[in-house]
Amino acid sequence: MCGIVGYIGKKEVAPILIEGLQKLEYRGYDSAGVAIYSDNDVVVRKYKGRLSVLEEHLNKEKIPGTLGIGHTRWATHGEPNDINAHPHTNYAGDIAVVHNGIIENYVKIREWLIKEGKVFETEVDTEVIAHLIDYYYEDDLVEAVQKSVRRMEGAYAIGVISKKNPDKLVAVRKDSPLVVGIGNGENFIASDIPALLKHTRNVYFLNDGEMAVLDENNITLLNEFGHKIEREVFEVTWDIEAAEKGGYEYFMLKEIYEQPKAIKETLSPRVDKENHIVLDDIKLTKEDLEKINKVMIVACGTAYHAGLVGRYAIEKFAKIPVETDVASEFRYRDPFVDENTLFIAISQSGETADTLAALREAKAKGARVMAVTNVVGSRISREADDVFYTWAGPEIAVASTKAYTTQLIAMYLIALNMGIKKGTISKEKYNTVLNELKALPQKAEKLLENKQLIQELADKQFNNQNVFYIGRGIDDHVGREGSLKLKEISYIHSEAIAAGELKHGTIALIEEGTLVVALATQDHLYDKMLSNIQEVRARGAYVIAVAKEGNEEAEKAADVVIYIPDTIDELTPVLSVIPLQVFAYYVAVARGTDVDKPKNLAKSVTVE
Ligand code: F6R
Repeated sequence: MCGIVGYIGKKEVAPILIEGLQKLEYRGYDSAGVAIYSDNDVVVRKYKGRLSVLEEHLNKEKIPGTLGIGHTRWATHGEPNDINAHPHTNYAGDIAVVHNGIIENYVKIREWLIKEGKVFETEVDTEVIAHLIDYYYEDDLVEAVQKSVRRMEGAYAIGVISKKNPDKLVAVRKDSPLVVGIGNGENFIASDIPALLKHTRNVYFLNDGEMAVLDENNITLLNEFGHKIEREVFEVTWDIEAAEKGGYEYFMLKEIYEQPKAIKETLSPRVDKENHIVLDDIKLTKEDLEKINKVMIVACGTAYHAGLVGRYAIEKFAKIPVETDVASEFRYRDPFVDENTLFIAISQSGETADTLAALREAKAKGARVMAVTNVVGSRISREADDVFYTWAGPEIAVASTKAYTTQLIAMYLIALNMGIKKGTISKEKYNTVLNELKALPQKAEKLLENKQLIQELADKQFNNQNVFYIGRGIDDHVGREGSLKLKEISYIHSEAIAAGELKHGTIALIEEGTLVVALATQDHLYDKMLSNIQEVRARGAYVIAVAKEGNEEAEKAADVVIYIPDTIDELTPVLSVIPLQVFAYYVAVARGTDVDKPKNLAKSVTVE
């Protein structure tokens, strides 16, 4: 996901582009850039890092001009650095392009253009667009862009300017969002409405394959065959904040709802039609695996909780002993690690200082190092031997949700891949797990359709002083994540405990009205969990149970049961965590906290 903006008019374009990009930073923030038509030339400035880096440069070096395009990037091809940042240009530098999407056939086009004499500077798919337009350019930018998009497969929203047609801004889209803003003596393009709202509320939406040709005073819309089309003007009535969050009150809720899509995007490209798992950035061979006698999974916070489920999956499917540790502890306990250890660091941001230091420690001791991260080109991904990128898209809310569920998917795929290579899982079981994994996005969607009950529970239970989460096996791991979600955004004290451990101490804290959330999704532990629920209820606890559809006995034991769609026991964490996230969210809303930015917390913890 990236964000693009463009402007043509009479005002200085640089601040307009920066302001527009600020509103799109939620779409990506690993690098940013602009191209401005200035003094008869196309001037490009682009930098790795947050938008503020670009802004600082543009404040120091003013680039006058009234036509320009801008981009904020979330890397998919090529690591985030200055050169890979957008805009991209042709070799002569007189055509500049910003792009959101993926050109699937870029390798083929690139090879062909190289034969035609074009010289490339990056490995980024977008660069081929600039060269293609250059190749087809005769004397009309619009025609050249039209011919170019006919060659392109994949998804794109692009904005193009050229020194040869400095009175035009050309934009076209297919499968990536693009809005055209209608101004007075000025016109705009952007990936999303918030980037335009300061200037106009009148917009055109483009359909797939459609193009917009903008000058100061006119906007011409063309269909994929180049014929002029008419479109009704849409008047935006929402406010900026709401639009940015897609109508959700907080990013956290938006991200909770993005989980079915994020799970699918992490899973689908890695499983082909014959159920083969394809992990491009993991080079572990069968021979490498034979040497590995221990796996260590290390992470912090939510990522650590994903690691606990990862331990279960790897031990179950690949039959290798696994240790899971929090990174800040691992570093200082002189852990036994050698060249036969596979070390897996899980980190959404890929920048967490403790996890990075643990990774370096493991590497220094000779371990093979794998990273599971959501950020392409992050430090942890650069220092690892193998990388699994979760394709959750940018996560803005401090409380992690979609990153966690995609980390779970990553761990299942890694475990299954190891298991099938080592021959420790039967083909039948492997296929069952993969088919169930593929069904998860739809099941997660179904679960999210029924949030009413959870919201009602949160509205009643938001005043608790203490909340306990109990579970057995992987339910215990999910309970820990549910408990962390609740405490970090609602500031209610909460503790998660293995249900069997209750009687060894913690049960002393259960009294009349204490809220206990009990996870009971594991068939082989179900009866034991029902007994644990009865134990706490007998001491006055109010119990919300989470169980699989069809397991109605839970209703006799608990006060309320939240059902998750049926799936195999191994995969329940991907579903059972969702009601816990929603519950934490609505409790926090009821308590009036700043859900997206909880006090004392930062999204990425780059200090020890
Ligand atoms: C909690 C949360 C944190 C992070 C932790 C690790 O909702 O987000 O516990 O999981 O700080 O961060 P990453 O995954 O970026 O290494």
